[in-house]
Amino acid sequence: MEHDPIEKIKFLNSVQSGAPIDFHLKTIFSEIKIGDLDFLSLYDQCMSSTGTWAPSWKTFRRAQRALTLGQYFDYSLSVPGSKAECGVLRGFSALLTSRIAQMRDKNWTGENYHLIDSFAGLSEPESHDAINNFSDVSGNKVPIFTHKAGDFAFPLTKVQNNLQSFPKIRFHKGWIPEIFLDLPEVEWSFVHIDVDLYSPTLKSLEYFFPRMAAGGVIINDDYSSPLFPGGGSGWTEFFDKVKKPFLVLDTGQAIYINK
Ligand SMILES: C[S@@+](CC[C@H](N)C(=O)[O-])C[C@H]1O[C@@H](n2cnc3c(N)ncnc32)[C@H](O)[C@@H]1O
Repeated sequence: MEHDPIEKIKFLNSVQSGAPIDFHLKTIFSEIKIGDLDFLSLYDQCMSSTGTWAPSWKTFRRAQRALTLGQYFDYSLSVPGSKAECGVLRGFSALLTSRIAQMRDKNWTGENYHLIDSFAGLSEPESHDAINNFSDVSGNKVPIFTHKAGDFAFPLTKVQNNLQSFPKIRFHKGWIPEIFLDLPEVEWSFVHIDVDLYSPTLKSLEYFFPRMAAGGVIINDDYSSPLFPGGGSGWTEFFDKVKKPFLVLDTGQAIYINK
């Protein structure tokens, strides 16, 4: 079971589906704050106002990843530079981080925050994006793609509506890597890569890594995502080349600090 991510997810969904999830989330997170913000209220508000939801197997992991993301974003506010997210979907993580920026600076309305997405869903998955843990009757590995091109499409106008409190946020609609031509030539203090797949993860690193400010942070949401192995392969391939250390968290995230 533990080598088969699909079976593992089915198992977690079945054992967790009747559990009192709100009770568990309160027990784990209720005392946690980011600055003045109560983390669990912030998380709940951003989930509901963007219409984002997590399946039962992801309940804890999703909240824990949001906490890590918020804490590193808060850290990055002390580092001069622009901020970017690759992979926006409905704007959940962009809203959470924007609320943190506004908590630290009441006048902040999205300045120097760049959100990059096709707003047409995933690009075409490649061989690195397949789960290869299954063997057919002859013992040969059979690649399985859990998602296809176009999954997670969500229209830009709705995302803009979800983030309307931050009118200075810049949206960049298009495919990675071509859309990077649209970005200003600046240094970056914070980059969140949450694109699920091998190629856009690798290409995002190739673009942002050489442009990171001293002390800047890059977070990969998909370093060890059970359904998206490509997010981890793209990251690993890049860091093998540049030979820089990074942190791996049990949440599935990987974090690089440009120190
Ligand atoms: C997991 S979602 C992002 C989740 C989001 N950060 C949140 O807070 O809910 C992945 C996003 O990556 C985008 N994406 C995937 N491949 C892409 C590519 N090659 N170019 C641009 N966007 C891409 C998809 O459109 C999708 O919105």
